[in-house]
Amino acid sequence: MTTTPQRVGAATRTMLANGQVLEDIVQPDEGLISRRIYSDPEIFEMEKERLFAKGWFFVGHDSEIPEPGDVITRIVGMDPALFVRDDDGEIRVFLNSCRHRGMRVCRTDRENTSFLRCSYHGWVYKNTGDLVSVQGESFYGEDELQKEKFGLIPVAKLGSYHGLVFATWDPEAPEFDEFLGDMKYYLDIIMNRTGGMKVVGTPQIWEAETGWKFSADNFTDNFHVYFAHHSLVELGMLPNDPDFAGRGELIVAEEGHILHITAGAPTDEYRYMGLPQQLRDKFPEHLDAEQVEMAKGLAYSAGTVFPNFHWMQLMSSGTIGQSDVPFLNLRLEVPVSPTRSRMWSWLLIDKDADPEYAKASYETYVRTFGPAGIYDQDDMENWEDCTRMSLGPAARQNTMHHRMGLHRPVDKTWPGPGSAYDVAYGEMTQRSWYSAWLNFMTQGWAGRKTMDEGQTR
Ligand code: FES
Ligand SMILES: [Fe+2]
Repeated sequence: MTTTPQRVGAATRTMLANGQVLEDIVQPDEGLISRRIYSDPEIFEMEKERLFAKGWFFVGHDSEIPEPGDVITRIVGMDPALFVRDDDGEIRVFLNSCRHRGMRVCRTDRENTSFLRCSYHGWVYKNTGDLVSVQGESFYGEDELQKEKFGLIPVAKLGSYHGLVFATWDPEAPEFDEFLGDMKYYLDIIMNRTGGMKVVGTPQIWEAETGWKFSADNFTDNFHVYFAHHSLVELGMLPNDPDFAGRGELIVAEEGHILHITAGAPTDEYRYMGLPQQLRDKFPEHLDAEQVEMAKGLAYSAGTVFPNFHWMQLMSSGTIGQSDVPFLNLRLEVPVSPTRSRMWSWLLIDKDADPEYAKASYETYVRTFGPAGIYDQDDMENWEDCTRMSLGPAARQNTMHHRMGLHRPVDKTWPGPGSAYDVAYGEMTQRSWYSAWLNFMTQGWAGRKTMDEGQTR
């Protein structure tokens, strides 16, 4: 079905099976992106090998495995994984696959155990990953088993920041701290404003008939809010103002990481993410003065750690006639096939939040986001139809349009790191994301320099 893409001529000419060159059909600097990349099986296979086997991927939040022996099942990149706190309290991440014949080692969503026994032939692993016991061991001759060499396969590297745990299967990947770079400044505001967050309940997981990049693209797209979610405007759950989501800054950080900080309306209700005063009072303990000032003008923020981890700090009315309540949603879209994706969605609440606010935040999130939420229902219809409408041979010859703000100058007055633009409607962030995607697909980690120096950063 697919042909291995080849480099032709210069180092960054990546030819596809039909003779097209990836660098020609994906032009982030022009804001023109081929429709092929959203559903093409050949490009999907390239993504598996070049991006999902190599990048840094979100595993979970450390509050999800608070106790020694906690084990939960996750996806790292596109591989099933175990997110574990071993008996000594150390966080570990393994491929959820037995070293004998590859059977799934943990078959539940979560458990607490010191040992994991494979249900096929009974090999037993400690929660450190070590293979400790094999049924019928006496039937193996000398040197046939070597238990010390066949523990669970660990990820190549682990990293964490404010409780967010990421992993990569690539030993050549840069260290996580270096990869996160500029984004740490903004993650401080989102994840550490009051001294830490905790996950509430378990993540919601569902699948949609969409190429994963439509979802990734949408997480930095403020422009759709007034139109795609207009039923909420009609119900009085979103302000009736077409420019409402357009006031703020778009920020392009290193490595394809992107975010927006959006002001909403200039009233006290919209300041400091709309959090209650009890939580606002804690900001100066955990953020520097510049970050506190930035948080003052922050009603909404969505950000992406390249390629597929997103946060969404939002305020929304969860019920007609009710005032807005803030919540923090974390999101991951994992490719299942070229045209199908699995969505993971977490709710986080400030550890020190009082119970009444925590309940209101939880209620607002479940009513508005996740598989039954009004916003996600609207978004899913767009992502699925965009996927279907781009499958045909005629459609695939064309591009998507991402040119908004192409000529807008960088806002030199912005105090934070990264390149900022003083508007929240623009496609600078998408262009930077596609630029990072193209570099990764054609050059792997070696493409990082180009990306850092690129026009669309
Ligand atoms: S596949 Fe796990 S013990 Fe055989
Ligand atoms: Fe949306």
